[in-house]
Amino acid sequence: MILGFLGTGHISSSVIEGIFKSKLKFKKIYLSPRNRVIAKKLSKRFKKIQISKNNQQLIDKSNWVFLAITPRVGKKILKDLYFKKNKKIISFISTINLKKLKENTKNKNITRVIPLPFIGMKKGPIVIFPPDKSVKNFFKHLGKVVEVKSEKVSKSFWATSSFMAPFYNLVSATSDWLTSKGVNRKEAEDYTRELFLALAEDAINKKKLSLKQLVVESQTPGGTNAFVLKELKKKKFYKVQQKVLNSIFKKF
Ligand SMILES: NC(=O)c1ccc[n+]([C@@H]2O[C@H](COP(=O)([O-])OP(=O)(O)OC[C@H]3O[C@@H](n4cnc5c(N)ncnc54)[C@H](OP(=O)(O)O)[C@@H]3O)[C@@H](O)[C@H]2O)c1
Repeated sequence: MILGFLGTGHISSSVIEGIFKSKLKFKKIYLSPRNRVIAKKLSKRFKKIQISKNNQQLIDKSNWVFLAITPRVGKKILKDLYFKKNKKIISFISTINLKKLKENTKNKNITRVIPLPFIGMKKGPIVIFPPDKSVKNFFKHLGKVVEVKSEKVSKSFWATSSFMAPFYNLVSATSDWLTSKGVNRKEAEDYTRELFLALAEDAINKKKLSLKQLVVESQTPGGTNAFVLKELKKKKFYKVQQKVLNSIFKKF
């Protein structure tokens, strides 16, 4: 199988990193010439990668074409490219829906996929819409596949994928607070990374508990965790989060 990535930016790099760490079998990966710096770096690192002359050549030479361009670029360039009927198109584009993708590419064989940067470590959830056996069999090598049957549901998952930067900001703000209390920056950052890693791992290890039970289990009644949770709730911290999720959902 020959794979082609239209758009060589952050997410393509992560997916390609994951592919080379996995047991997936493929003959070649073609990259579009943009972004040239990243494309050159990847082609130097991995022998099976080749930079194509232009976007159309990449599509013509690949069996599966991954759309990893921004929505703005997608809207501009897709309609002028030709996708033969036998191509499989995997779109990572956040805000171009299936109907529009079909119109723009004049191809029906399209799956929308939400990869996240940790796919480079073969970790994290990967949402697939609509369900497709071969796409699932491919991505199961790169993370935990979640198949959804409705585009509306897939949009809800897209909305939650916007919580990467806010999550890191929470981690960063926790570390900053430690620093403000006199802890050295490196020590504060190392401590905070370990704390949040252990919390996330614990949530996975305790899958028998619901997330709500996990919240209850991690606080002693009248204790410090209970105090902080109550104060954050009083200040509408979590209500704000829900509101922001509703706002971002409307953008997908
Ligand atoms: N990053 C994520 O975590 C993530 C997760 C899920 C889905 N996505 C989706 O994946 C898509 C790409 O995101 P990204 O974060 O990887 O963005 P990015 O880093 O900006 O990558 C976009 C790539 O498209 C290239 N490009 C621009 N114009 C082009 C053209 N005419 N032909 C071919 N390539 C062109 C850019 O090249 P230049 O640098 O030369 O302009 C760049 O390499 C977006 O639709 C996004 O919603 C991203």
